[in-house]
Amino acid sequence: MLSLPTLNTNVTEPGTLPPLAVYLETYGCQMNVYDSELVQSILSSCGFETATSVEAADVVLMNTCAIRENAHRKIYGRLDLLRPLGRARTRAGRPFVVGILGCMAQNLKDELFDHPMVDLIAGPDNYKSLPTLIRGAITSGEPRIEAHLSEYETYADVAPIRAAGVNAWIAVMRGCDNFCTFCVVPYTRGRERCRSVASIVDETHALVENGYPQVTLLGQNVNSYRHEGAEFADLIRAVAEVPGIQRVRFTSPHPKDFPLSLLSAIAAHPNICKHVHLPVQAGSDRILDKMNRTYTRREYLALVDLVRQTIPNVAITTDVIIGFPTETEADFQETADLVREAAFDNAFVFKYSEREGTVARRDFPDDVPPAAKTDRIVRLLDLQHAISKKKNEARVGQILDVLIEGMGEKRDDHQFGKSDGYQTVTFPATGQPTGSLVPVRILRATQGGLHGVGVGESSLGPRVASE
Ligand code: 5AD
Ligand code: SF4
Repeated sequence: MLSLPTLNTNVTEPGTLPPLAVYLETYGCQMNVYDSELVQSILSSCGFETATSVEAADVVLMNTCAIRENAHRKIYGRLDLLRPLGRARTRAGRPFVVGILGCMAQNLKDELFDHPMVDLIAGPDNYKSLPTLIRGAITSGEPRIEAHLSEYETYADVAPIRAAGVNAWIAVMRGCDNFCTFCVVPYTRGRERCRSVASIVDETHALVENGYPQVTLLGQNVNSYRHEGAEFADLIRAVAEVPGIQRVRFTSPHPKDFPLSLLSAIAAHPNICKHVHLPVQAGSDRILDKMNRTYTRREYLALVDLVRQTIPNVAITTDVIIGFPTETEADFQETADLVREAAFDNAFVFKYSEREGTVARRDFPDDVPPAAKTDRIVRLLDLQHAISKKKNEARVGQILDVLIEGMGEKRDDHQFGKSDGYQTVTFPATGQPTGSLVPVRILRATQGGLHGVGVGESSLGPRVASE
């Protein structure tokens, strides 16, 4: 390990440190956003304060992602930008340390100390140690690391400090046992473990009392949620039945073993959003097998049919990886055909990125040329954009319930929000506050969203003024 220069500060004992101000930046997925809320809570309960800028901070923490190489690059770029501030230095007698949290911390561990700005490292299961790590790094002038995975840590005993907004994230489980060959998550977030139904239902009650109209239940693979005999369908039903919760969302299920009970629960509860994010990853059986996805294209397409039959007007979105090792033009065409056939409302398309520690990195050379990856991703995005536009155009004339998220970014006399199916809808301000559920008649559609006008009365929410 590298050693930091000893701090030129008169505070050497943890007990004598002044209150330290922490600036926390979050990168990556919704799970990281939730984890940052846990970190805020852990630090605040130990006397740390929140800084609103790097300049005002004693401690800068970055909660990082490792899913693709560009996530790593972004963090190294950010660390380089901090270099002019110096390292483990004092400003007017105050310390300044930089910490890396999250998946990149777990993935690279003390290799991250090779960057001169990194003073401390904490993996996703080690956030309760952060107060000790931070104080230790400051008082000793030595780097501090804790990056070991736990089979038990769920943070069910930590009440997150949530950002204001209409949505509250709740991680119902942590980790992943699927080991898709391309994916680093099982190595950075460890084995699956689930919180109890009761603790999640209690948290939802508290969120309703605090004015949150929507919760989103998070897990790397929610179909494998199990706790004392309860499955994910039981959990989401219990959450949807909490009085006052207007919307319940979840992400993500795995297409293998998708339970019919979950589809029935979504169909039966008006406040469970009719949106299923169902990552397909590839459309060629040969590639799906190499990815260890454990379903075939036929099985996936049959599931899409079943979802649509069981839940009228459901929106289905997906994730696709382009350029997985050995992918040929013919394999890519099978993916494009599947995307056409499934007619997704939206698709997130990623270039394959080889990750440290994965089976794909060990066994399959990253052999699809970068130019072919770029060419295929452009073609697939063009295809999906055309499908999304058509799907959105089909909604013109419909009245959709929209949960207002705020004022329009471009026009401050407009509001925007999300439909049940997760389309962004913009409309002239209704007079209703953020967090209200309002019915909006759709007048216009683009590939990226819908535009409309508030009308009459929501089937679920309060009466609103028409424009
Ligand atoms: N390269 C590219 N995309 C990846 N994903 C996961 N691992 C990789 C990787 N190594 C994508 C998958 C997943 C989404 C969250 O990120 O599509 O569903
Ligand atoms: Fe990664 Fe597969 Fe687990 Fe999703 S299900 S987190 S892609 S290993």
